[in-house]
Amino acid sequence: MDSNQSPALLQAIQLLQQGHPVALPTETVYGLAAPITNESALGKIFSIKQRPFFDPLIVHVNSIEMAKTCFQEWPSIAQTLAQKFWPGPLTLVMKKSSLIPGLVTSGLENVGVRWPRHDLFNEVIRQMSTPLAAPSANLFGRTSPTIAQHVKDEFAQKVFVVDGGPCQVGIESTVLLIESNSLGAAQNFQLSLLRQGQVSENQITDSLALEKNWSWLPLEKVNPKSSPGHMKHHYMPSIPLILVQGQQEEAQLLKKIEKRFQEIPDVVESVKIIKPQWPLKNIATLTLSKDSVLAARQLYAELRSASQSDADLILFQCLALHSSPDWQSIMDRLQKAASLIID
Ligand code: TXA
Ligand code: MG
Repeated sequence: MDSNQSPALLQAIQLLQQGHPVALPTETVYGLAAPITNESALGKIFSIKQRPFFDPLIVHVNSIEMAKTCFQEWPSIAQTLAQKFWPGPLTLVMKKSSLIPGLVTSGLENVGVRWPRHDLFNEVIRQMSTPLAAPSANLFGRTSPTIAQHVKDEFAQKVFVVDGGPCQVGIESTVLLIESNSLGAAQNFQLSLLRQGQVSENQITDSLALEKNWSWLPLEKVNPKSSPGHMKHHYMPSIPLILVQGQQEEAQLLKKIEKRFQEIPDVVESVKIIKPQWPLKNIATLTLSKDSVLAARQLYAELRSASQSDADLILFQCLALHSSPDWQSIMDRLQKAASLIID
C-alpha cells in the first residue's frame, strides 16, 4: 500500500487537525508531534509527557525553505550545515522568528529546528503544511522510544502511534547552538554542542572548513539560559542502571553499590533517581554491540527490555573501547541514564 495513503497516516492527520498530538517515527527516536500553530495541542504535549515548561521543544520541518521561516536569520553557516546533514540528526538552535510561539521555546529567544530523515514524518509535515514540534515520545526524564511498541507501553491508549519500524539512529539528534555577535560590521558566530548525537563535533568542524568568522564555545561557557533541558540525569530506565569501570569482584561491587545508594539524594534537578529494592535478587547485564552505530540503535530497546525483566538493577561494564570518540554520544546517554557510576 502507498504509505502516503495508509490508514494510520490518515488517522494521524485527522487527529492532528483535531488538536491531538500523535507519535511519529523519525530516524533518531519516536517523537510526540503537534503543529506549531495549535497552542492547545502543544500544551497537551507537555501534559501527556509530564514535561516541565522550562524544557523547549524541537521544531521539525521538511525543507530548508521551511526551516528558514522559523528563524530570524539564516547565516551561511546554517546553509552549509543544513546542506550537509539534512535531512538528518542535527538540530540547529538560533534566534526564532515570530512564527514560533513562546510555548515551543519555553519563552526563549532561540528555537531548535531540524529536518528529520523519515518519509512518514516528512509526509505528515507536507499534509499539515506547517512545522511540527515534537519532543521524544516518552515520559519526562525517561528512556526515548525507538520502536512503536515503546510508545504504546509508555502511554497506552492516550497516544496514537504511526508505526514506521525501528529507528535507524537510535539516539536523539545532535543539538547545535549558533549564536552571533556583531563585531563592528563583521558578524562572528559561536557554536556550542548542547547535546551530543550521531553528527559529531569533528564532522561539524570539517563541514565548515570553508566558512569564516566562527569558533567553538565550550558548553561550560554557554549562558545556562541558552541551554535548558540539560539535566544531569535523563533517559532513565525504570530500574536503576549502574555503570561500572572495568571488571570488579561481584560481592565487593554489591557492597559498594549499597553504600553509594544510601548516600545519593532521591531527586536531582527535578528528576527522580531510580533506586533498587533491597535485598537484591536478580541483576541484569546490559550488553551492546562493539560497533558504535549498532550499539546506538540497540541502546534504548535493551535498557527497556532489561527494565521489564525481573531484575532489580542493570549493570553496564565500561571498557577501553567505550572511550573512543564514536562512543561519546552513547556514553553521554548511559551516564545520564545511570543512577550510579562506580569507579
Ligand atoms: O532526535 C531528536 O531530537 C528527537 C526527535 C523526536 O526529533 N527529539 C528530541 O526532543 O529529542 P526532546 O524534547 O526530547 O529534546 C529536545 C532538547 C531539549 O531538552 C533541549 O535540551 C534542546 O533539545 N532544545 C530544544 N529547543 C531548544 C532551544 N530553543 N534552546 C536550547 N536547547 C533547545
Ligand atoms: Mg527527550
